[in-house]
Amino acid sequence: MRLPQLEDLPDPHGRRVLVRCDFNVPLATAPDGSRAIADDLRIRAALPTLRWLLDHGATVTACSHLGRPKGGPDAKSDLAPVRARLDELVGGVTLLDNLRWDPGEEGNDPVFVDRLVAGQDLYVDDAFGAAHRAHASIVGPPARLPSAAGRLLAREVEVLSGLLEAPARPFVAILGGSKVSDKLGVIRSLLDKVDTLIIGGGMCFTFLAALGNPVGDSLLEPDQVPTCEDLLRSATRIVLPTDLTVLGPGGVIGDPAAGGEVRQVGTSVPAGWKGLDIGPGSAAEFSDVIVEARTVLWNGPMGVFEDPRFQAGTRTVAHAVADCRGFTVIGGGDSAAAAAQFGVADRIDHVSTGGGASLELIEQGDLPGLAALRASAERFGLPTR
Ligand code: 3PG
Ligand code: MG
Repeated sequence: MRLPQLEDLPDPHGRRVLVRCDFNVPLATAPDGSRAIADDLRIRAALPTLRWLLDHGATVTACSHLGRPKGGPDAKSDLAPVRARLDELVGGVTLLDNLRWDPGEEGNDPVFVDRLVAGQDLYVDDAFGAAHRAHASIVGPPARLPSAAGRLLAREVEVLSGLLEAPARPFVAILGGSKVSDKLGVIRSLLDKVDTLIIGGGMCFTFLAALGNPVGDSLLEPDQVPTCEDLLRSATRIVLPTDLTVLGPGGVIGDPAAGGEVRQVGTSVPAGWKGLDIGPGSAAEFSDVIVEARTVLWNGPMGVFEDPRFQAGTRTVAHAVADCRGFTVIGGGDSAAAAAQFGVADRIDHVSTGGGASLELIEQGDLPGLAALRASAERFGLPTR
């Protein structure tokens, strides 16, 4: 997809540039109540763009959302920890307050857009993780200012749209996460493109139920069973778990001390038990398929990997993706966190900073933020490449 790049902007020297970043980073609360950044990937990922603009003599104002505040300031969604980290990594960038503290951001209010662009000469969108949101700071400024894609946004689009255009085969996608309903669109679109679709995580139980397996108290979306039956009739190979790790009655997710028995079963989950990870046999089968692939896309954990009793499936898949000699992509969010936790993130070719955005780009082939940049290039006569 062609987008206007930083080099296509009028010379930024002496100009004021507004940069939309996605600094929606995970925060952890320390015992003393202070909040610290748990993973600064999204801040580090914006540095090439910010440095390029500073090196080219621009005055840079960055802006971002953090969390989902309800249209007003609160301590939980204060960007102060991000501002401090940004200052350590690259000085000289002003960071505005959380955009979502103003209801005009999510409402795409033109008056809020006016305030954002006031005094600015150029706009750069580097917020790939938020490019699927038609919010004021994403779609508003490109209609008012000459605009370009930042380095991160451009790279994300190049990699993810490249997957769909001419992937080396076999192309294997691994999907996990809890809900089939959230990922229906992307499942349908991937079935047209991949050679094999591997399904694990909470959503595998609705597929297993569609094959007639009892799923006990596992996650199940009964209204999606007919859809899963239909998807399983697809000509594309769909690989489901053949064994599961399950937690017995009385057990509590995330609290091993609460008791509850953990067992391995096949694809029948006993009544009262919950499937919380793929079993070791499935993890090995999935790995065999993954290491042979020449293109891999992974989105969503295989189990509740925050609980050490249910992390083995996700860990094995993370290692298989890292060991694969093909081109490997992780689609953001939980799977990126898992790759970091299991120490393999630097052996993945591309770890996307956008979970929802990467899935929507795969599903739709475009995003509101990208369409806004292309329209801006046309309006202001900027080239695209
Ligand atoms: C994300 O973390 O997925 C992006 O920053 C978008 O956030 P949102 O889902 O709250 O819009
Ligand atoms: Mg590789």
